[in-house]
Amino acid sequence: MEEIKVGLLGFGTIGAGVVKLLKQNSALLTEKTGARISLKTIIDLDVTTDRGVSTEGITLSRNADDVLTDPEISVVIELIGGYEPARSFALKAIANGKHVVTANKALLAVHGEEIYAAAKKNNVEVLFEAAVGGGIPVLSAIKGNMAGNRFSTVLGIVNGTCNYILTRMTQEGADFAEVLKSAQELGYAEADPTFDIEGVDTAHKLCLLLSLCFGTRIDLKDVYSEGITSITSEDVDFAHTFGYRIKLLAIGKMDGGQIEARVHPTMIPIDYPLADVHGVFNAIRLTGDFVGPVMFYGRGAGMEATASAVVGDVVDLARNLCAGITRRCTPLGFLDENVTTLPI
Ligand code: HSE
Repeated sequence: MEEIKVGLLGFGTIGAGVVKLLKQNSALLTEKTGARISLKTIIDLDVTTDRGVSTEGITLSRNADDVLTDPEISVVIELIGGYEPARSFALKAIANGKHVVTANKALLAVHGEEIYAAAKKNNVEVLFEAAVGGGIPVLSAIKGNMAGNRFSTVLGIVNGTCNYILTRMTQEGADFAEVLKSAQELGYAEADPTFDIEGVDTAHKLCLLLSLCFGTRIDLKDVYSEGITSITSEDVDFAHTFGYRIKLLAIGKMDGGQIEARVHPTMIPIDYPLADVHGVFNAIRLTGDFVGPVMFYGRGAGMEATASAVVGDVVDLARNLCAGITRRCTPLGFLDENVTTLPI
């Protein structure tokens, strides 16, 4: 039986989820891929803290080269987050002929072009389902089953931390700072939660969604972004009195070759499905010219849901590697140069 050896960069909350899933569902993964997927090496600066998962049979190291230059490892999972050293590590993995799976929306929203170009040159794939919507398979749907459509709108609640905070402020009148702390403890928030609450994480995800939907690059600086830090319990109460809920929305629209891209708190009528998305759950509503509106809903952050998306990408790669396919035509390989983003 073919063995696919995997290296993991970053042993935080999601990394621990990936280790748990690969161990717990190992036999199932073999049944579904026809290959043995083995996690050979984990890299992290901290290799001593107990993450509550078994690392038996796995090498733990502080030296990224133990994964990046290991000729036996064909798939690298990058879960460090942020721009550097994630960018340098991803580029080195690619240069060494390794496929990359990442949950890093910040990295791809800002350095995506460089990374996709390197992957194309080195004949490897970069998969990133976990970067948007946690466990929701929305990117696979855009690239796959919905690929026959021209998209017109993308609307989404794509930050679990903000939705969790707004939900608890609405339902319990909870204090912003306290709920943020609890979102951090639950493993929903970014290492620097400013990215969550200032709308930057949502803007990163909107860039990725729009690039895939519209086949063009979206510059982060062309996305208007406003977070939830100025939302008070009074705002939430007033919204409720008038029949609305406040949600942090990612909004993308294509109109006459121009893309409008914005992120901000939005009053949503209580009887709309997006108003009914609570806690860490995310929802993304896409409109295609043939399929019409389609809504995706599920857990948008957290250890297990995000690990599910990461391992889904590893399974996708394992199936291709077993079939002798090293690289497929990716939807990011084309660019529509006629499309522009509306000025903010
Ligand atoms: N901090 C992110 C969120 C993690 O809260 O949605 C998932 O991308």
